Amino acid sequence: MLFISKFCFLVAMTIVSLTTASFDAKGMLEAPRRSSVSSNFQGDLGVFVESNYSFANHSFSSGIYLVNSSIKNHQELLVPGRGAKSPRWITNHSFLYVKDNSASGSSIVVFDVDHRSESVLYDHDVLISELSVVKDSNRYRVIFTSLDSSGRYEPLTQPNVHVYDSLFVRHWDHWKTGERNSLYSIILEHHSEIAHTFQLTTPTAIDLLQGTGLECPIEPFGDSTDFDATFNELVFVAKDPKSNPATQTRTVVYLLNLTTMKLKSLSAAMGACSSPIISEDGSKIGWLEMRTPQYESDQNQVMIYYPKNGKKQHVAQDWDRSPASIHWGTLPSGETGLYAIADDEGRRNLFFISTENNQVISLTKDESVLSVSSSEGPKLWLSKSSFISPKYFVLYDPSTKEEEPLLDANLGLSKSSYEEVWYPGTNGHKIHGWIVRPESFDATKRYPLAIFIHGGPQGSWTDSWSTRWNPAVFANSGFIVFTIDPVGSTGYGQQFTDDIALNWGGRPYHDIVRGVDYITGQIPYVDGSRMVALGASYGGYMINWIQGHPLGNRFRALVSHDGVFNTVNTFYSTDELYFPMHDFGGTPWENRATYERWNPSNFVENWATPQLVIHSSKDYRLTESEGISTFNALQYKKIPSKLLVFEDENHWVLKPENSLRWHHEVLSWITQHVNDN
Ligand SMILES: *[C@@H]1O[C@H](CO)[C@@H](O)[C@H](O)[C@H]1NC(C)=O
Ligand SMILES: *[C@@H]1O[C@H](CO)[C@@H](O)[C@H](O)[C@H]1NC(C)=O
Ligand SMILES: *[C@@H]1O[C@H](CO)[C@@H](O)[C@H](O)[C@H]1NC(C)=O
Ligand SMILES: *[C@@H]1O[C@H](CO)[C@@H](O)[C@H](O)[C@H]1NC(C)=O
Ligand SMILES: *[C@@H]1O[C@H](CO)[C@@H](O)[C@H](O)[C@H]1NC(C)=O
Repeated sequence: MLFISKFCFLVAMTIVSLTTASFDAKGMLEAPRRSSVSSNFQGDLGVFVESNYSFANHSFSSGIYLVNSSIKNHQELLVPGRGAKSPRWITNHSFLYVKDNSASGSSIVVFDVDHRSESVLYDHDVLISELSVVKDSNRYRVIFTSLDSSGRYEPLTQPNVHVYDSLFVRHWDHWKTGERNSLYSIILEHHSEIAHTFQLTTPTAIDLLQGTGLECPIEPFGDSTDFDATFNELVFVAKDPKSNPATQTRTVVYLLNLTTMKLKSLSAAMGACSSPIISEDGSKIGWLEMRTPQYESDQNQVMIYYPKNGKKQHVAQDWDRSPASIHWGTLPSGETGLYAIADDEGRRNLFFISTENNQVISLTKDESVLSVSSSEGPKLWLSKSSFISPKYFVLYDPSTKEEEPLLDANLGLSKSSYEEVWYPGTNGHKIHGWIVRPESFDATKRYPLAIFIHGGPQGSWTDSWSTRWNPAVFANSGFIVFTIDPVGSTGYGQQFTDDIALNWGGRPYHDIVRGVDYITGQIPYVDGSRMVALGASYGGYMINWIQGHPLGNRFRALVSHDGVFNTVNTFYSTDELYFPMHDFGGTPWENRATYERWNPSNFVENWATPQLVIHSSKDYRLTESEGISTFNALQYKKIPSKLLVFEDENHWVLKPENSLRWHHEVLSWITQHVNDN
C-alpha cells in the first residue's frame, strides 16, 4: 500500500514537474535577445539584431533580421554572424550596419534588401560601437562611435599597472586608461542610377570631438541616444569638462556646426542632461535635463531650443513623471511634439507631449515600451516587453491607441499569471506591487513567498522582461513572487522618488514591512511561514538592513547580491561619489551621523537569519569587500550562510553560464530553506 501510493505520488510529481518546469532559468537564458526594431522611412520594413545563447554548444548565434509588416510574425535572417550590429536604414530598401572584423577593427557595410546583397563601404582600424546616418539630397553623413586612444596615459607595455592623480580611477567594471569614446564622421554620395550604390567621399573618418576634451557617448552606459544630427549639425551630451566627473553629475548639451566646427553649449543646468534630439530641418533641438547637482535620479525636465532666435522653452512642466527618452513626432491629427517614454506605476509607458498646447497625452497603458521608431506613415513601430515576453514588436496607432502584432516572442507564459496590487504604505502613500504566480498555479494550495527588492534605490519593478531577477523564473520554480516599489521608486511622482534621500533604512523598510503584512494577511494562497527575501545593489543593502531588524526574523532565508555591508566604507570606495553625496547629504566625514544611522554593520548583533551572499569581483560600484564582510559577519555568528563569488562579472551577472550557476545556487538556497521544517 505504502509502495503503491508512493509510486503514484512519484508519477504525479513527474507529470507536475514536466509541466511546471517547462519554463526555467535555462529557458529564460536561451530565449531570443533582441535589439529594438528600427523601421524604414516608408514604415513597411524593420530591422533588428537578435542573438540566442545555446547551452548545448556554449555559444551565441546572432544576426540581423528583417521584419516585413505585411507578413505577421515572421523574421528573416539577412546577415548572419555575431559581429553584425547597429543596422540603420539609409533608403527605404537598404541599410548600413557595423561588422566587427576582429578585436581591433570594424567595417561599415551597406545591405541591399531587394537583392539581399551587400558591400563594404569603409574600414576602421578600431572597433565601432554604433552608427547613425542622416541625409541631404544625394549625400549622407554617417556618424559612428569608437574609442580614441590618443589620450591614453598608460603605457601599453605595462597594461596591469595603474597610476592616477585625479578621478575616475575605475568606473563600473574597468580601470580608466585615458582612452575616451568619440564621434567620427564619414560622408557618402549616391550618384549612380543603380539604386543602392554609395561612394565614400572622405578617405578617412574625421574625429568630431578632437581637441575638445569632450567624451561622447558618456561612460559607462552611453550609446547612440547621447547624440543626434542633421547633415550640417550635431547635438550631443558630454560631461562638463570643468567639473570633477566623480563628484558631479553635470553634463552639457553641445551644438557643433559641422561646416565651421564651431562648438556651442546649449544647456545651463547643473545636473545631467540626456537624450539630445534635433528635428530633421534643424529648427528645433530638444533634450532632458536634471537641475539638482549630484542627483542622478532627479526629475528630467523637457527642454526645447530654437537655434533661429536662441529661445528656450521648458515644456510639460506640470507633468509629474521623469521621462527616460524623447523622440520628435507628429500625431496623425497633425499635432507636433515629442514622444516620451517614462516609468509609470509599474510599467514603462509611452506619452505624447504636444509642443503646440503643452498638453501631455497618455498613450500606452500596459507592459513596457522600450523604444519608438517612427516613419512617414501615421503608425509607430514599438519595441515592447513584459514579465511574460522578451522584446516583441508592434505597429501602434496613436490615434486609436491600438496595436497590431509584428513579431512576438512567445515562450508559453500566460498573462493571467500576474497581477498588480496596491497597499497602504508609510505617510499615507499607496505602494505598488506585482504578484507573479507559477503557470501551474492552483488557488487551493499555499505557496512559499519570495519578496523581491529592487536596486537604485530609485528604480521600479516594471512589467518588462529581464534576464536578471526575472520573476517568472522564480514563480515557475514554485514560489509566489511579490515585487515591491517602496518609497524612492520611480513612476509615482518625483516627491515619492526624492523621499528616500537621508532615509535609506527608514521609510522604505517600513513600506516593505507593510507589504509583507499585506500579502500574508490578504492573499490566501501565500504561506506566511515560508517566506524569503532577495535583493541586489540597494536591494542587497536592504537585505542586510532587514537582517539586523525585526522583519529579518520573519524570513526563512535571505539573499543579498552586490549589497552594502558598511555604508561608510562602501561610499569611500565606490566610483560615482556624487551618488552617496546626494543620498546621504554630504561626504562620509561631513555627515557621518546619517551614514551611521543607516549602516547595516551597526546591527550585526541582531543577525540570525540564514543568508546567501553573492558578490562579483569586477563590481567597482559596490566593491567585493562588502560581500566578503557580510559573509565574515554571518560566519563569525555561526549563522547558516553561503558565499558565491563571480571573478569575471560586474554589478550584474551577464555571462549565460555564470547566470545559470547563479540561478542554480539562489533557487536551491531558497527552496531548501522554505522546505526545512
Ligand atoms: C549552437 O546551437 C544552436 C542551437 O542548436 C545553433 O543554432 C547554433 O548554430 C550552434 N552554434 C554553433 C557555433 O555551433
Ligand atoms: C533564435 O531562436 C529562434 C527560435 O527560438 C529562431 O527563430 C531564431 O532564428 C534564432 N536566432 C538566432 C540568431 O539564432
Ligand atoms: C514584404 O512582403 C510583401 C508581401 O508578401 C512582398 O511583396 C514584399 O516583397 C516583401 N518585402 C521584402 C523586402 O521582402
Ligand atoms: C521612402 O518611400 C516613400 C514613399 O514610398 C517616399 O516618400 C520617401 O521619399 C522614400 N524615402 C527615402 C529615404 O527614400
Ligand atoms: C554653420 O555655419 C555656417 C557658416 O558660418 C552657417 O552658414 C550655418 O548657418 C551654420 N549652421 C548652423 C546650423 O548654425
